[in-house]
Amino acid sequence: MVSRVIPVDDFDLVIFGGTGDLARRKILPGLFRRFRSGQMPADSRIIGAARSELDTSGYRAMIREAIVEFGGDEKSDTDTLDQFLNALEYVAIDAKGEGGWSELKSLIRDKVIKAFYFSVAPSLFGDLAERLHAHEIADADSRIVVEKPFGRDLASAQALNATLAEHFDERQIYRIDHYLGKETVQNLMAVRFGNVLFEPLWNSHYVDHIQITVAETVGVGGRGGYYDKSGAMRDMVQNHLMQLLCLIAMEPPSVFGANEVRDEKLKVIRALQPVEAHHIVRGQYDASDDAASYRADVENPRSFTESFVAMKCHVSNWRWSDTPFYLRTGKKMKARTSEIAVVFKDLGHKMFEGDSARHRNILAIRLQPNEGMDLQVTIKEPGPGGMRLIDVPLDMTFADALGDDAEDATDAYERLIMDVIRGNQTLFMRGDEVEAAWAWTDPIIEGWEARNDVPKLYDAGSAGPDDAMMLMHRDGRRWRDIKG
Ligand SMILES: NC(=O)c1ccc[n+]([C@@H]2O[C@H](COP(=O)([O-])OP(=O)(O)OC[C@H]3O[C@@H](n4cnc5c(N)ncnc54)[C@H](OP(=O)(O)O)[C@@H]3O)[C@@H](O)[C@H]2O)c1
Repeated sequence: MVSRVIPVDDFDLVIFGGTGDLARRKILPGLFRRFRSGQMPADSRIIGAARSELDTSGYRAMIREAIVEFGGDEKSDTDTLDQFLNALEYVAIDAKGEGGWSELKSLIRDKVIKAFYFSVAPSLFGDLAERLHAHEIADADSRIVVEKPFGRDLASAQALNATLAEHFDERQIYRIDHYLGKETVQNLMAVRFGNVLFEPLWNSHYVDHIQITVAETVGVGGRGGYYDKSGAMRDMVQNHLMQLLCLIAMEPPSVFGANEVRDEKLKVIRALQPVEAHHIVRGQYDASDDAASYRADVENPRSFTESFVAMKCHVSNWRWSDTPFYLRTGKKMKARTSEIAVVFKDLGHKMFEGDSARHRNILAIRLQPNEGMDLQVTIKEPGPGGMRLIDVPLDMTFADALGDDAEDATDAYERLIMDVIRGNQTLFMRGDEVEAAWAWTDPIIEGWEARNDVPKLYDAGSAGPDDAMMLMHRDGRRWRDIKG
C-alpha cells in the first residue's frame, strides 16, 4: 500500500514553549518527519519562542539534538536535517512581558498561513492571546493551538474559553487531544461509516457492552506535582477516554465536516448519565519490589489522588439505552495498551450440537502498541473431528497492511499540526465539547472530595484494584486482558 503525501500551503508556525519537553520530544521531531516526507513546504518557517536567552543557532543545535534523540528513526540523513533546521528561528519572549514581540512580528510573513502553538502552561494562554493581538501579529485567519489540560473543572474551562474568545474566533482555536490524531481513531470512523457490515449492528440490539482501556506502565515520572493535583479522572478520563467514547457512540454525521462531527460528539457527552458512586473504582498504585508507591513518587504521604479509575457509564439515547460502556485507565499497570473493544451479544440459539462454549464477536481497536484492529469471529476448528468451533481474530495490524510505508505512518502530533495548517478542525475539541465533558466529570470529583474518598491500593504492574474486576464480574462480564 502506498501512502500519498499532499503538501500543505506555505506557513509560519510559532511555537511558544519551543524549548520545552513537548516541543523537543513531539512537535519538532514530528514537523521534521513532515518536512522529510515533502508535506511541509521547504519555504515554511518554524519560530521557537520562550524566555531562555538563546540565539537562532543555539536553538537549531538544541533541536538537532532533540530530533536525533526523539526522532524515532534511522532515516534522518544529515542533509535533510540541515535543510529542516535552516527553517527554524528563535525569539526570546516572556509571555508576560513586552520584549521580543516586534522581533517576532518582523519574522512573520504576510501572505502565508500563520499558526501559533501554545505549548506552555495554560495560565499563559491569556497573556499570549492578548499580546499576539495587541502587537498585531495574529490576523483574522491565524490559528492558535492549545494543549491540555484545558481547565481543571467547568468553571476554569469556561474562563479559559472566554479569555481565548476575546481575541480569537472558535474557528481559529485548535484544542489538541493527540488521541484524536491516531491513525486508528480515524480508521474507527472509516470502518463504522464506510462499511455496510458494522453500522446496522452498532446498537443495543447487538452490542453487549463496550470497553475502553488506556493503561500505562509508567508512573507519574517528573510530573508528580502537577499530577497529584489532577489525578486520572482529570488527566485521562475527561479528555482522552471521553473522546474515544464519543467516536464509538456518536450518530453518523450527515457529512464528514468539522462541525457536523463535533455536533454529534457533543450530543453523546450530553446524553451521558451521571455515574453512580458504586459504579466507579478509584485506585492508587502501591510500592512493589522494584518500584516506589504513588505517594512516594509524588512526595505526598497523605495523597488521596487516584492513579487509576474504572467506571461503568450509560449513554442515555435510543441507540445505546441497554449497552454499558466500561472505561478504565491507570498508571503502573501490567502493560502499556490503549484499546477499545466492542463486544457483541451471544447468538440467541446454539445449533451446533456439543458446543457449549460462549462465542462472541469482538471488534478490538488498538491505538497502541501495534495500531490496528481485529475482529474475533467464530469458525470451525480445521481438520476432521466434527463441528468443533473456535474463535479466531481477523487481524489488521497497520504495520502489516502498510508494509514499508508503516514506518512513515504519521504520528498523531504531526498529523494534527498539518490539519491546523489545512484549517481542518474535525479532530480538535470544540469549546462546548470541553465544557460539556467537565460538566459531566465535575460532580464525580466533587462527590469524592465531599466523601473524602480513599482510593483502593493496587500493586504496581497489575491490572488495577480487585474492585475494578468486581465492577465487571457483578454484571457477568470481564475485562479483557491488558496485553502490550
Ligand atoms: N510534555 C508532554 O508530553 C505534554 C503532553 C500533553 C500536554 N502537555 C502540555 O503542554 C504544555 C507544555 O508542556 P511541556 O512538557 O513542554 O512543559 P515544559 O517542559 O515545562 O516547557 C515549558 C515551556 O514554556 C516556556 N515558558 C515557561 N514560562 C514562559 C513564559 N512566561 N513565557 C514564555 N515561555 C515560557 C519554557 O521555556 P523558558 O523557561 O525558557 O521560558 C518551555 O519552553 C503544558 O501545558 C503541558 O501541560 C505536555
